[in-house]
Amino acid sequence: MAYIAVKGMQDIYKDQAASFNYIEEVFKAVCNLYGYHEFRTPILEYTEVFDRSTGESSDIVRKEMYTFLDKGDRSVTMRPEFTAGVIRSVVENKLYATEDLPIKACYVGPVFRYDRPQLGRYRQFTQAGVECIGQDSARVDAETICLAIQILSMLGFENLTLKINTIGDAESRAKYREALKAYFEPKISTMCEDCQQRIKLNPMRILDCKVEADQEIAKGAPKMKEFLSEASEKRFYETLSIIHDLGIEYEIDDSLVRGLDYYGEVVFEIHAKSKAGIDYGALLGGGHYDGMLKTFGGPEMAGVGFAFGLERVYSVMKDNDLFKELDNGLDVYVMPVGESVLDDVFELTSEIRTLGYSAETPFAALKLGSQFKKAEKRGAKFAIILGEDELAKGVAQIKNLKTQEQKEFKLDQLEETLDDAFGEDDDDGCGEPHEHSKEETK
Ligand code: HAM
Repeated sequence: MAYIAVKGMQDIYKDQAASFNYIEEVFKAVCNLYGYHEFRTPILEYTEVFDRSTGESSDIVRKEMYTFLDKGDRSVTMRPEFTAGVIRSVVENKLYATEDLPIKACYVGPVFRYDRPQLGRYRQFTQAGVECIGQDSARVDAETICLAIQILSMLGFENLTLKINTIGDAESRAKYREALKAYFEPKISTMCEDCQQRIKLNPMRILDCKVEADQEIAKGAPKMKEFLSEASEKRFYETLSIIHDLGIEYEIDDSLVRGLDYYGEVVFEIHAKSKAGIDYGALLGGGHYDGMLKTFGGPEMAGVGFAFGLERVYSVMKDNDLFKELDNGLDVYVMPVGESVLDDVFELTSEIRTLGYSAETPFAALKLGSQFKKAEKRGAKFAIILGEDELAKGVAQIKNLKTQEQKEFKLDQLEETLDDAFGEDDDDGCGEPHEHSKEETK
């Protein structure tokens, strides 16, 4: 049997892992600017957590959950999204009563959906997102959208499309569902099996159908805006007006209903095609919700949030060369010349690391040519070369691997030499401040 990763799941390593870390760092830094704090909820939840909130009519709950019985015969599910778990946690820990409101939670981690694997669609993927819980206002919704845009802008995205819609309050949605039912009923026998279920469970889900023929039929369906209550309409235009004032461009998309059951009022998605025109699907999706805390036994409290998939964001960034500034290279490769200096070079490498510079050395004596090849593969900026003669004189050679300039330095002046080398490297425009790791480790 060949040992391969489970279908729809992938290994992430080296540059891709570094890129994921970078995306997460930017995400957390921007969340911090808005006063968010990290939540780490379990990957496994009791199945009811998702059944009851994410929704019985959503494809995710109906078809895509990794659900199984644990050894105690309890039905558990690997989270297909974060929102339900975060709200469960807020209610279980009574944070709505003990914390200042709104609670601003951000999170990042793996989620699991038994979906059909295809471009931009995996069975295990990584979501980063936020939930702002406990204050109901168009301004909170607008701030959340602004945060989403700022995260993607800080990652270097330029041509983002913010699609926004309202699915109104519960009353507006009930009227809309009736109207959709009446519209689809005469046509439903020609539509896909899923839609035949959707009309019974929640006809709004038909608008999410990916089958082309069904999408054609859905184009003629009544629009949500015809059924909006006055309050929901006012709320929507208030949100639009705030985000407009913040300089955020948007596109009202009245077919946008989102695939999860908990939403009410404003919903949104952010899309961006890669330079090559590849569409990996929505980068980010979110919206407002009202009844979730109550579902878990908490008070009636509103929330709003979004999540984005790191895999999709990574793919577009890679296609658009947005990682070119990222430097994952080594600061110094330390080269022993001959067996006899291996121990000294090992110690020197360790000393360089304690000074805050990343460093590596081969663990055995290698020809200098091979060592330079290794240094190049590791993206090293400098080589320090130490042989027996130099060691006896208390000196070593330092070589800038970009300019090929080489000079001797005194081993007892290691720190000054490295500081100078990296300082000079920055001064002559060769590098950005993040080009070596000293600042980050200090
Ligand atoms: P969602 O739209 O289901 O929303 O997922 C959010 C994002 O996760 C998508 O925009 C996409 O980038 C990524 N994603 C979804 N499915 C896959 C997949 N199979 N493979 C790769 N990436 C995927 C939610 O999950 C909501 N919990 C968002 C939210 C938070 N709403 C309110 N608060």
